[in-house]
Amino acid sequence: MKKIFSYCAIPVTAMFGLYLGFASSSVNAGDVNKIYKETCELCHGPDGKGSEAGKQFGVPDFSSADYQKSRTDAQMKESMTNGTKNPNYVKLSDLGVDLVDLDALITVVRGFSK
Ligand code: HEC
Repeated sequence: MKKIFSYCAIPVTAMFGLYLGFASSSVNAGDVNKIYKETCELCHGPDGKGSEAGKQFGVPDFSSADYQKSRTDAQMKESMTNGTKNPNYVKLSDLGVDLVDLDALITVVRGFSK
């Protein structure tokens, strides 16, 4: 019995390592840029200023230094996690975004203002 267990333990550990490898690869910069393009651009536009539709919804201008100064990362994260009073803004998990990507997405959002 003991022998069977130790035989099984090795592949399980190896698979877990592989899984961790995949999980951490989902937060690299290439992927969040892809998430932004596929999921956020629709409302926030390729330059972060807001698409025509997004402006109707009331998106902020991410390229504005004043806007960037008005929000802390924690405030952004709160809005992205739970939504805001604006009924047009859905929490990002409802858009299929993995919440582990939020910090990296905030970096993308901050990057529109130079
Ligand atoms: C359906 C349109 C829509 C999509 C898609 C969308 N947003 Fe937004 N977003 C909004 C609106 C509207 C607001 C303004 C909310 C408010 O002011 O209450 C907003 C606000 C934000 C804010 C600012 C929150 C704050 O507290 O100032 C961030 C950051 C943000 N969005 C990130 C994203 C990211 C990242 C994605 C893609 C994963 C995304 N949004 C997708 C409509 C959208």
